[in-house]
Amino acid sequence: MATHKLLLLPGDGIGPEVMGEVEKIVSWLSKEGVASFETERDLVGGAAYDTHGKSISDETMRLADAADAVLFGAVGGAKWASVPYEHRPEAGLLRLRKDLGLFANLRPAICYPALASASSLKPELVEGLDIVIVRELTGGVYFGEPKEIVTLENGEKRAVDTQLYTTGEIDRIARVAFDLARKRRNKVSSAEKHNVMKSGVLWKEVVTRVHAQDFSDVTLEHVLADNCAMQLVRYPKQYDVIVCDNLFGDILSDVAAMLTGSLGMLPSASLGAEDPQTGKRKALYEPVHGSAPDIAGRGLANPIAMIGSLAMCLRYSFGLIEAADRLEAAITEALASGSRTKDIASEGANAVSTSEMGDAIVAALGRG
Ligand code: NAD
Ligand code: IPM
Ligand code: MN
Repeated sequence: MATHKLLLLPGDGIGPEVMGEVEKIVSWLSKEGVASFETERDLVGGAAYDTHGKSISDETMRLADAADAVLFGAVGGAKWASVPYEHRPEAGLLRLRKDLGLFANLRPAICYPALASASSLKPELVEGLDIVIVRELTGGVYFGEPKEIVTLENGEKRAVDTQLYTTGEIDRIARVAFDLARKRRNKVSSAEKHNVMKSGVLWKEVVTRVHAQDFSDVTLEHVLADNCAMQLVRYPKQYDVIVCDNLFGDILSDVAAMLTGSLGMLPSASLGAEDPQTGKRKALYEPVHGSAPDIAGRGLANPIAMIGSLAMCLRYSFGLIEAADRLEAAITEALASGSRTKDIASEGANAVSTSEMGDAIVAALGRG
């Protein structure tokens, strides 16, 4: 049996709490002989800053590069509010994404049957929801230069962020979205703002060309990103795959999270290009949520986004499709049997802790 090299980067806030539940599942999979893992743990974010004076060390970057996959918890928190901008905890995550070339971020939003009434939308709007946001992750306004705050002669300050995309960057993310749609309901909605942004004009043009050249069997629609946000809360089931830039993807995926009941439900996969020789790709798996300082350290965090990210890792990085299906089924079953952390529990119902939620998923795995 192949041994998969996993690097665990729990990070800050609830990161270590939700990663702890993933470690239970990794142990279970190893113990049952489903898969074999070699795991290493390291610091990232504020935790790394406190130890190394930077939010990710070069040694951790080396480990991430050498691993078969990275599992990432969450970073950030008030403790690091005044560290130099380049050392803020979030910079560690951005470096991992950029330096590993993880340009494609898949953020599935699935409304589990047991949770239709946990969403802030009416149950009939979200029941059976299954959409994926394909977010471009290494370009756009997150990385474009110049990016600076300058003081002007009159003493005023001017802040600049640069939204920048090349044809190549748009072309490759569009292909990821079309390929994925072919395995699903065959529809891609491309969200941009060509009405006000030059990068939106180019985005629309390139997506249209890629579609016409290689994916004309897939239904393509263009939607302005602001309208897309509205449509997501009006009638989300109209979507299958939504493809968009880095910033719109960040915002739309938090909106999509609430359709499923909680931000604590949304997993993601951040993938690099496939190596033509080995067929392998760099990959990091990260929940969509952050370090949730308001609930950290109290056993309140929902670990499902993190555990779902492990399921995506089994599927995309290790080809362990059966194990991934089984883990996702265990999440469904644990929810159906009534285990819910506070964020998804019904009003007045008893909520379980982070650890009890993880245990319920391990128990369901055992029965599966
Ligand atoms: P957040 O995602 O941390 O929290 C938003 C809200 O959702 C909070 O009320 C929180 O309690 C709740 N929530 C989030 N995850 C949850 C979970 N698993 N279970 C239950 N409830 C959950 O966003 P924020 O408060 O805007 O940001 C806090 C910090 O996290 C900031 O420093 C931000 O930069 C960082 N952040 C990091 C990541 C990441 O590491 N990938 C992602 C987003 C935000
Ligand atoms: C996310 C987060 C990150 C982002 C931050 C922490 C850098 O919000 O993954 O959604 O903006 O990409
Ligand atoms: Mn975000």
